Amino acid sequence: MKRSLIFFALVVIAAAAWYAMQPTYSEINFQNDQDMSLPAGALAAVNLPGSFSEQEQLGGRAYDADCASCHGVNGQGQDDVAPPLVHKIYEPSHHGDMAFVLAAQNGVRAHHWNFGNMPAVEGVTRSDVLAITAYIRALQRANGIE
Ligand code: HEC
Repeated sequence: MKRSLIFFALVVIAAAAWYAMQPTYSEINFQNDQDMSLPAGALAAVNLPGSFSEQEQLGGRAYDADCASCHGVNGQGQDDVAPPLVHKIYEPSHHGDMAFVLAAQNGVRAHHWNFGNMPAVEGVTRSDVLAITAYIRALQRANGIE
């Protein structure tokens, strides 16, 4: 009898300790609202690949010049401006390379997000966009998006 009482008390203490260790609602909320692992304004945490091929480097420079102002450095997206391109939605089987060419050429009517439309990007050639796409694919692969 006494033994089972002690056991019961231990279970209660263990349960209380476990409960006390759980994050509170506001702690969880704070982590989601201000994810400290994200650079300011970014919408995705992007790991960089160990190296880029020559074409990917070329694409990276064109990306920085023509796309980063909206899609953020390294395709991480930009709060209130444009989505991250390093995102599962833009994996090759859902948005093939042609989707990138068409996006730059014709612009995009908002459909996946609430950022508004993407205007056509002036002054990029098809081969620029294919290099940009190779660069984005390299970033996607480094983040498990294939
Ligand atoms: C003026 C801001 C802006 C610029 C500059 C811009 N984008 Fe976008 N882009 C957007 C927005 C906003 C969306 C999201 C549209 C939606 O809701 O689906 C988007 C969507 C896309 C998509 C998804 C297309 C689809 O079919 O859903 C691709 C691919 C893309 N952009 C590539 C690029 C590339 C490549 C460049 C540079 C050559 C670029 N964007 C430059 C704002 C921009």
